[in-house]
Amino acid sequence: MSARSCAANCATPERKLDSRHTRPAGNLISRGPRRIGGHPKHGVPALSKITHQALSALKSHLASDAPRDLRAAFAEDSGRARRYTVGLDDLRMDFSKCAVNDETLALLSGLAKAAGVEAQRDQMFAGEAINTTEGRAVLHTALRAAADADIRVNGENVVPQVHAVLDAMGRFSDGVRSGSILGATGKRFTDVVNIGIGGSDLGPVMATLALAPYHDGPRLHFVSNVDGAHIADTLSGLDPETTLIIVASKTFTTIETMTNAATAREFIVSSLGEAAVALHFAALSTALDKVARFGLKEDRVFGFWDWVGGRYSLWSAIGLPLMIAIGKTGFGDFLAGARAMDEHFKSAPIERNLPMLLGLLGVWHRLVCGYPSRAIIPYDQRLSRFPAYLQQLDMESNGKSVGLDGKPVETASGPIVWGEPGTNGQHAFFQLLHQGTDVIPVEFMIAARGHEPQLAHQHQLLVANCLAQSEALMRGRTTEEARAQLMAGGTSESEADRLAPHKTFPGNRPSITFVYEMLTPFALGRLIALYEHRVFVEAQIFGINAFDQWGVELGKELATALLPVVKGENSGEGHDSSTLMLAETIRQMRGD
Ligand code: F6P
Repeated sequence: MSARSCAANCATPERKLDSRHTRPAGNLISRGPRRIGGHPKHGVPALSKITHQALSALKSHLASDAPRDLRAAFAEDSGRARRYTVGLDDLRMDFSKCAVNDETLALLSGLAKAAGVEAQRDQMFAGEAINTTEGRAVLHTALRAAADADIRVNGENVVPQVHAVLDAMGRFSDGVRSGSILGATGKRFTDVVNIGIGGSDLGPVMATLALAPYHDGPRLHFVSNVDGAHIADTLSGLDPETTLIIVASKTFTTIETMTNAATAREFIVSSLGEAAVALHFAALSTALDKVARFGLKEDRVFGFWDWVGGRYSLWSAIGLPLMIAIGKTGFGDFLAGARAMDEHFKSAPIERNLPMLLGLLGVWHRLVCGYPSRAIIPYDQRLSRFPAYLQQLDMESNGKSVGLDGKPVETASGPIVWGEPGTNGQHAFFQLLHQGTDVIPVEFMIAARGHEPQLAHQHQLLVANCLAQSEALMRGRTTEEARAQLMAGGTSESEADRLAPHKTFPGNRPSITFVYEMLTPFALGRLIALYEHRVFVEAQIFGINAFDQWGVELGKELATALLPVVKGENSGEGHDSSTLMLAETIRQMRGD
């Protein structure tokens, strides 16, 4: 799939949450779990006593004086929307359709203070090794810092290195876009294939698709899955003479990426010879020694650093495909948008601070109300991969059940994150959002203007749908209203009685709506950075390390161990009978 047209393509352990408490009762806001307390079996709790007190205060508030009827809350307070909307330039976050009031916000702000979120934020920005299980700083913010900033890791200012790589990326992308960098047979590159997975794929795919109106470079393609179908389908339409391959891998060991890179190498070599590799490949990695073995010259290798987490790496060399698509000026605007959010996160008071509030509302919904998941619904087709991107950002960061102290977490941690663009989702899963037994907070996003002035009428329809859904989730429809509507349409009284319960909507289903003027590179960078910092805020309150991902290791280890079994090279001693039988069935079906 091309990118100018483009782009590729738990429930959290319920030890603490009881789904019976998450079921809405009529028009009441459903009540979450009652219990937030230290784990009795595990000594010193990871969360401080004052954090527990702040959480307990929120739980009491939920049970007593948090708004229960949002319709009434809006009717009683004409200033509610204005009061519960915060902004940064043209970005607005309206959270007035969440069941909160001034007291809720004061208590949430108290929770952030009790958990020391501001101090931890400052440690992150200062380059302290807050990724404690890997002993690393967490400095994706340095990747978008101004050239004259001074951010130190082990006493060394990293900003000059960051800008040196950005400059090298700029020279390379200019060359590919202008045609001064050519393939082995002297032809211009018309197609660029990025091979990577996880953070080395999701960000570039998502952003390249999101910024399609800004594409003026070669077509972009993304290959991630080790399923040979992905690379076969991608390469099948391409000409090796005009194809540039980018191998993106922080570690340069990831099996999917290395396997696809070998296939792509064969695609180039079989047609153009071994010498063409140096001209048709570029690599993005922190593991420069491993890249060297791939046979690339220095000017084709773009490095980054171990203080950049994979899922936070879009701003680094991993952003090269995006830069090739939209140019270095557009990429600079994208970084500037993120920088604007960084500055805001660092300096705005909690009650006007978008990432703080978004994180605190996330905690309110997850820990206090007990909602198990959240839905991300961009009313923006070009953000169609944003929910998938956020799944890695959020769930790989906060999908942990061990606290910073190595003991089981004392509260729930990150929710399940999922979503699809509107309006499509309306015709798929919105039924459950409106009438299902779980309350799922929704985060809507909508631009004031689309990029197609000739289709402004379609954009108006899109906006109307977005606003209608948040209003419907909030208002609901009472049985009485449903009954009256049926009878007004000519339905008999007895039939109206029978049907009205099915046409009743509980309402009071929370949502947050983001509005921005237009989805520009700057606006996208700002939105992504907002969500990065939101994940950070929530992690501090959960008391977990958001920056490791040990949970992906076991499956990788077992896949390596099972490969000889799948190939029939060994009997698989030590594996369970289900796994062995499945492998055997597959071998038999293949006729091995
Ligand atoms: O899925 C685990 C993970 O390590 C992610 O965190 C990372 O983004 C992805 O694999 C890809 O890793 P790499 O960039 O090293 O190939």
